[in-house]
Amino acid sequence: MCGIFAYCTYLTEKDRKEICDILCTGLQRLEYRGYDSAGIGIDGDTEKDVILFKQVGKVAALRKLITESKVNFGKTFINQVSIAHTRWATHGAPSPINCHPLRSDPTNEFTVIHNGIVTNNNELRLVLQKKGYKFESETDTEVVAVLFKYIWDSQRGTRLDFTTLVKIVVKELEGSFAFVFKSIHFPNEVVTARRGSPLLIGVKTEKKLKIDFVDVEIAGPDVEKGAGLLAPGSSSLGSNFLVPQPAGMTRTQSRAFMSEEGVPQPIEFFIASDASAVVEHTKRVLYLEDDDIAHIIEGELHIHRLRREEGKSSVRAIETLELELAEIMKGKFDHFMQKEIYEQPESVVNTMRGRVNFDTHKITLGGLKAYLPIIRRCRRIVFSACGTSYHSCIATRAIFEELTEIPVSVELASDFLDRKTPIFRDDVCVFVSQSGETADTILAMRYCLERGALCVGVVNTVGSTISRESHCGIHINAGPEIGVASTKAYTSQYIALIMFAIQMSEDRISLTERRKQIIDGLHELPAQISQVLHGDKALQQLAKTVLANSRSLLIMGRGFQYATCLEGALKIKEISYTHSEGILAGELKHGPLALIDGDLPVILVMTRDSLYPKVQSALAQVTARKGQPIIICNEDDLSISKEYRTIRVPQTVDCLQGILNIIPLQLLSYHLAILNGFDVDFPRNLAKSVTTE
Ligand code: AGP
Repeated sequence: MCGIFAYCTYLTEKDRKEICDILCTGLQRLEYRGYDSAGIGIDGDTEKDVILFKQVGKVAALRKLITESKVNFGKTFINQVSIAHTRWATHGAPSPINCHPLRSDPTNEFTVIHNGIVTNNNELRLVLQKKGYKFESETDTEVVAVLFKYIWDSQRGTRLDFTTLVKIVVKELEGSFAFVFKSIHFPNEVVTARRGSPLLIGVKTEKKLKIDFVDVEIAGPDVEKGAGLLAPGSSSLGSNFLVPQPAGMTRTQSRAFMSEEGVPQPIEFFIASDASAVVEHTKRVLYLEDDDIAHIIEGELHIHRLRREEGKSSVRAIETLELELAEIMKGKFDHFMQKEIYEQPESVVNTMRGRVNFDTHKITLGGLKAYLPIIRRCRRIVFSACGTSYHSCIATRAIFEELTEIPVSVELASDFLDRKTPIFRDDVCVFVSQSGETADTILAMRYCLERGALCVGVVNTVGSTISRESHCGIHINAGPEIGVASTKAYTSQYIALIMFAIQMSEDRISLTERRKQIIDGLHELPAQISQVLHGDKALQQLAKTVLANSRSLLIMGRGFQYATCLEGALKIKEISYTHSEGILAGELKHGPLALIDGDLPVILVMTRDSLYPKVQSALAQVTARKGQPIIICNEDDLSISKEYRTIRVPQTVDCLQGILNIIPLQLLSYHLAILNGFDVDFPRNLAKSVTTE
C-alpha cells in the first residue's frame, strides 16, 4: 500500500538538505506498508520551479539519487511545501516515470501524490488526450494531475483558488484515494483530499495552540453544481462544461493557529498516511474524514467540505497521539516481526488492561457498554475480516457460540461481498482489522451499515476508518504493528474477542464457572507466553534441520486449534514463501491423506482438550503412511512416543490454548524466512494494509 508524507513550514527557516532529510525519514517510517519505489517533490530555486526526485527500490536508493544531484542543498526557505511518496504499484510497473509525485506537464505546473485507485482513470485519460493533453506514465494518478491542468487552462478569466480547483477535480473522480496536491501557481500552499484512504495532519508549533480543533468550512452552492467533465454515458467532455465560478466560501478564520497576539505564528505541518511518519516530530494530530479537503496556506490549516451533511461534525479535533517513536523502532531486535513476537507477553496485558478484573471475574469493555443490551438480543453474530484477522474470528467462533448460544458465522470479507450475503437489522456484524483500513473489510462494514445492522469494530489502529465508522467497538491496544506478517495483533484480537464473548454472556448465571475458568486462564497467559518464547532456540534448530528444505508443510488440528493451523500456515507461506496448508484433522481422510509420505513434514496441533483422542487418530493415520509428524503438545503430556519430534507448550484453558500454540509457528515462520534470506518485515508482493480491493 502506498505511503504519503508531506512537510509544510511557515515562518520556520529550513535549508533544502534538512527538508530532504525530513521527507526521506518520513518515507522510511512508512516503509513497512510495502512499496517498490519512492519520490519527493520540493521547491526549486524560484517560486515557479518544483524539483522532483524519483527512484525505484528502497528509500535508501532515493536518498542516494538526491545526494548525488547538483541542487544547492544550502538554500534556505522560510516558507515551503514539499511532498513525498512510497509507491506500491497498481497501475504501471515500478519505474522512475511511474513514481510519485506525478505531474501535469514538463513544467510541473501541478504535482500530486496519491494512495488508492482512481477507477475511472481510463475514461478521463481518453477525454484529456482528445483535448490534446499528453501523458508520460502508465499511472492512474497522472490523469489527476493532467485533469488539474485542463481545468486550470479552461478558466474563463477568473482565477480559481487552489481549494476550489481541488473540489472540481475530486468531483470527477471515482474510486478510493488520498491525495496531496502542490502547484507552482500556488506557492507555499498545499491541498489534500481523502476518500477511503487514511490521511492525518501533524501540527508542530513552539507555543501551545490556542484551541484544539479546526472548524470545517462549507462551500457555497456553486461548486456542487459543477458540470461533469464526462457527459453522462459518453467519453466526451460535457458540452456545457464550464468551470464554475469560485463558490461563496463561508471561510472562517482558523482560530486554532493564531498566536496569543492574534497573528500567524511559526508552524510546521506533517501530512501522512499514518502516525508512524509524524510521531517523532509532534504528537498533536488531526485525522481527516472521508471527503474532507484540507488546505494549508500562510501557516493556517483550513478544512473544507463540499456540502453540509446532517450529523457530521463541524470541527476536526486536534488530538494527542499515544504512539511513541520507540514503539515503531526495532530496538534490540533484528526485525519488527521478531520484536512484535517477543512483545506478546506485554501486548496481551495491554489488551486486557482496565478491562478484566481478575478478582471479581468481571469484564468491562467501555466501547461496547452502551450497545450491550442490543448486542445480547441480536439474532445472529456475523464476523467479517481478512487474513490473520479472519483467523482470530475462526479461533473464537466456538466460544462465542458456547457462551452466547447465538448462531455465529465467520466470513472472509471479500467473499461476503461477492455473495451479497443477506444481512438484517437484528444482526450484529463484527469487523476485525489490525489496520482498520482494509478495503474489503471496510466495504463489508458499509454494506452492513446500509442494511441497518449493528456494526462493531475490533481494531488496533486508533482513528482508522473502521474504528470511526462502526457504531461501537474495541481497540485491541496491541501497540503499532509494523511487520507485514501479523503476530501480536492476532493474539490481541483473539483476547479481545474472548473478552467480548465473556461480556456478552455475563447475564447467564449458569455460565459463571466457565467464565471464571477463562478469566483465570487469561491471568496466567502473559507468563505462559514468555515460557513458550524460551523455546525459540530449539525452534530455530528445528527450522534449520527439518523444515528448511521442505517443498510444502501441512499443519493440522481441529476444534479450537483449526484456527491455529490456518494462521500458522499463513505465517509460513507469507514470509518464507514455502507452500503451507492448514487442514482440519477431521478432513484428513477426505483427501489430504494422499499427500502424506515420508518426505512431507506434518505439524499436528495436539494439545489437551475434548478432541485430543480424535487428533491422536489423525496422528496414527499420518504415521501409518510414514509421515514425519512434529507435534505441538502440552509440556506434561507423557503419552507421546519419544520417536516423534515435539514442540511443548504450557497448558491453559481449551479456548485460550490457541494463543500459546500459535507462538511456535510464528517463530518457525520467522526462522524459515531468515534461513531463506528473505525480507521478513517486507515480504515480496505484500503490503501491511491492503487498502485496495
Ligand atoms: C497477516 O499476516 C497478513 N499481513 C494479512 O493477511 C492481514 O492479516 C490482512 O491483510 C488483514 O489486515 P487487517 O487486519 O489490517 O485488516
